[in-house]
Amino acid sequence: MVGAHKGGDVAVIGAGLIGLAIAFELAERGAQVRVFDRGEPGRAASWAGAGMLAPYTEHIEDESVLDLCERSLGAYPEFTERVRAASGIDPHLRLNGIVHAAFDASGVGRLSAHALDLARRGVAHDVLDREQTLAFEPWLGTHVAGSLLVRGEGSIDNRRFGRALAAACDARGVSFVRDAIDLAVECDDRRVLGVRSERGFATCSIVVNAAGAWAAQLPGVPPSARPAVRPVKGQMLALAVPRGFVRHTTWVQGAYLVPRDDGRLLVGATVEDEDFDQRVTAAGIRQLLDAALSAAPALGAFSIGETWAGLRPGTPDGRPYLGATPIEGLLLATGHFRNGILLAPITAKLLASYIDGSLAPGALDAFGLARDGAPNAHRTGVV
Ligand code: GLY
Repeated sequence: MVGAHKGGDVAVIGAGLIGLAIAFELAERGAQVRVFDRGEPGRAASWAGAGMLAPYTEHIEDESVLDLCERSLGAYPEFTERVRAASGIDPHLRLNGIVHAAFDASGVGRLSAHALDLARRGVAHDVLDREQTLAFEPWLGTHVAGSLLVRGEGSIDNRRFGRALAAACDARGVSFVRDAIDLAVECDDRRVLGVRSERGFATCSIVVNAAGAWAAQLPGVPPSARPAVRPVKGQMLALAVPRGFVRHTTWVQGAYLVPRDDGRLLVGATVEDEDFDQRVTAAGIRQLLDAALSAAPALGAFSIGETWAGLRPGTPDGRPYLGATPIEGLLLATGHFRNGILLAPITAKLLASYIDGSLAPGALDAFGLARDGAPNAHRTGVV
């Protein structure tokens, strides 16, 4: 039951993977939860991402973020199993490792340095020579020089995961307000009062702002509770390759490639400060194709099945915002930048534990609105 903030429903604003995961976790713990979204569940960045689950591949330097990502990766099997059991939908979790490919001596040198870092952290990995790499992933082509396999990382089909989470929420009694117009939070000077949309006012003692890249724009949020979130665009494309052609998520200079069970190979992603522009551009797609085809010319034979773009919620220091604001009952779960899909299970557990009063005091201090500045992890370009 909801403990620390008892006396009313929980509203979650934003039906992306973060909001849905929080709603599901709370509902499994016995809370009454309503999810509000301007669109359909599981869309926006949650639909646009590639679903990479890759704390070490992402080269995260901020220890507090890396620790959160490691814990979330560890929580994935149990969390997705509960979602699958509730929904009947398999979200295709694949933790079969991520391959980093190198194509020259300096690339091999960078992989060796990365392998040393992994060894220091106790992360299982294998350094593969050219022949071993080609035996593993023949499509990389004969100019590959070697690779690093980071064990335990992988991917989830984030679009399936969104559908599974929405169905799991339904099965656990979460109610949805979809396609809401004029969605706004209402607060007085001290505390949150509820959520308003064109369908009326819902009184709630707790409102979680999980509106992703739009979290700072959510109407009705007092300035003191507004997160410094901004949109960071990512463009992607999908190639139609034979099923099984690429077996592992693969990281090459300038792009990552994520195979899906249906034979699509996702290629991502640009990193662009473009405000709320979500257009797919010729330059963005050229950038991705240049990177993918210079690593593996064989990919040039396949058709482009889809192109799309999404907006990551970036923050000034690269850390998400999790937990309390100065407005009682108004909570934050946003700013996950490149790791929103990875961080969904741990965010759900932390927010649910904060709400039911079982979280240790100070556990979210590193992710509060008032934290000290961490090094800015934001970069633009590609991957
Ligand atoms: N997680 C990869 C990306 O945001 O592009």
